[in-house]
Amino acid sequence: MKKALKFAGISLAIAFVAIQFFQIGKTNLTIVQANTLETSVSVPPDIALILGRSCNDCHTNNTVYPWYASVQPFGWFLKDHIDDGKRHLNFSEFNTYAAKKKVKKLEEICEQVESAEMPLPSYLWIHRDAVLSESDRKALCGWANEQKGKIDEPMTNTPLVN
Ligand code: HEC
Repeated sequence: MKKALKFAGISLAIAFVAIQFFQIGKTNLTIVQANTLETSVSVPPDIALILGRSCNDCHTNNTVYPWYASVQPFGWFLKDHIDDGKRHLNFSEFNTYAAKKKVKKLEEICEQVESAEMPLPSYLWIHRDAVLSESDRKALCGWANEQKGKIDEPMTNTPLVN
């Protein structure tokens, strides 16, 4: 029994060392100013602050990787969330979205923060400063709704459907 435990322990330790050779890519894509959220809609400083604190790591090309991103399997887990987050919504590429998509994403920002689905709960375990206060949520929703109304819709005869 003791021998089996020892063997299992050594195997785990070897596996842990072996997976460290599979590091994640941490290079951020270049941000093109013309493509950003800030070029598309007005982002006042208080909103920029909330987004920077709570959202930008997973929703911009300006991800700051913590030291444990270099420790696997944590890095794989982080990378998965970051890539998935950007695929759904990337503030660094927001201005490349069609008007309809911009409106939809702004709507979703309010929905996701009101239902506390964003920021992703696992992010908040460690990034305690990213937790949104009630007033942060209100500010984000108010801003998203206001900006939504300012996006030029392409001329259309049919009302927009969600
Ligand atoms: C740790 C990474 C992470 C953080 C931080 C984060 N998100 Fe996300 N976000 C994701 C992932 C992953 C998805 C896609 C999967 C999902 O919807 O759960 C997503 C999806 C979304 C969507 C849905 C887009 C769609 O097309 O369905 C919105 C809107 C969103 N996030 C807004 C925010 C806002 C606003 C913040 C900050 C208050 C934030 N997120 C913080 C990872 C993150």
